[in-house]
Amino acid sequence: MNILVTGGAGFIGSHTLIELYSAGHTAVVVDNLSNSSQESLRRVAKIIGIAEIPFYNVDIRDREGLEKVFACHHFDACIHFAGLKAVGESVAKPWEYYDNNISGTLTLLDVMRRNGCKSIIFSSSATVYGDPAEIPISEQCPKGQCSNPYGWTKSMLEQVMTDMQHADTEWNVVLLRYFNPIGAHQSGTIGEDPNGIPNNLMPYITQVAVGKRPELGVFGNDYDTPDGTGVRDYIHVVDLARGHVAALQKVGQGSGLSVYNLGTGHGYSVLDVVKAFERINGVRIPYSIKPRRAGDIATCYSNPEKANRELGWKALYGIDEMCRDSWRWQSQNPDGYATK
Ligand code: NAD
Ligand code: UFG
Repeated sequence: MNILVTGGAGFIGSHTLIELYSAGHTAVVVDNLSNSSQESLRRVAKIIGIAEIPFYNVDIRDREGLEKVFACHHFDACIHFAGLKAVGESVAKPWEYYDNNISGTLTLLDVMRRNGCKSIIFSSSATVYGDPAEIPISEQCPKGQCSNPYGWTKSMLEQVMTDMQHADTEWNVVLLRYFNPIGAHQSGTIGEDPNGIPNNLMPYITQVAVGKRPELGVFGNDYDTPDGTGVRDYIHVVDLARGHVAALQKVGQGSGLSVYNLGTGHGYSVLDVVKAFERINGVRIPYSIKPRRAGDIATCYSNPEKANRELGWKALYGIDEMCRDSWRWQSQNPDGYATK
């Protein structure tokens, strides 16, 4: 299949491109590079062994720009990663998040349907479950109250695509709710490259390990968890990327509307991750306990059985591989894609 990959220069998109090509698909990337660099696409092309990945520097809110891309290519489906994703920033800049994520996706969906492309795989998030009603979280778990505008954009966009699919059953919509993607491609040449101070745990740990930050702040050790620190379902980004290829097969069979959790089903605390990182990489991570971070929940991990059963997909990598590959990327590229 030929796939439109929005946000393909970003962390998850770049890893997904490799898995798409290795499964025999081709892709065209649309990205406005607001949180990424074209260098990631050059490195992806090198890993795949092709001259370049077709790329358009287009914002998904730009209808004319998107129409031009559709005029040049036929797409069998879209994998839609493009979006802003920093939780704290979304609280400070709600309009920017609703505009980018919601207006952008509405424009994309309209251009897609006008061009006869009605299959989409959407990057959603475990954040739509809010403070989850059950652990482990299955897709049956009701959606909850999101604690920030970013989360609401995911929740609302799920609803938009669900309603569109109900109204027009030619649409195939797969909503993928990611848990916590970390790790990097085994080559060590692509990975997560956050701007400024990392918001998320693993990039913060790797920046401490590489000497860019003095210590990790652990946000709270008084949660109702085995060691008091927050528990999450970390998933290797390569496993996550393969989940998209599996979802694409489903779309090709005319899936209608489907929702899947993409996680491993295992929960690790902040201190579990720190210890695993230190053990596997032989690097010390100094840390200190800080107050809880606003909006955080104690425990969040998936029941991934539905994706295992219906997509024939299962996460293969464990926490050791995630820590090893995150460190390989960071240690080989201390300044991310700016590393020469
Ligand atoms: P990322 O920021 O690395 O990638 C997103 C890409 O989208 C970037 O390359 C950015 O430049 C591009 N983009 C943003 N707005 C755009 C616009 N208006 N037009 C065109 N391109 C635009 O993030 P990621 O971690 O790869 O996440 C990909 C998707 O998965 C996002 O939608 C994110 O919300 C979702 N998600 C991520 C996580 C996570 O922890 N990384 C968890 C759950 C869901
Ligand atoms: N944490 C720290 N110190 C840090 C960063 C994080 O102790 O410097 C802790 C958090 O308190 C939490 C855990 O590490 O207990 C994981 O935090 P992350 O910020 O890495 O991830 P979250 O679970 O908060 O959120 C992530 C994405 C969201 C997404 C969610 C579920 O940032 O966008 O996973 O998919 F919605």
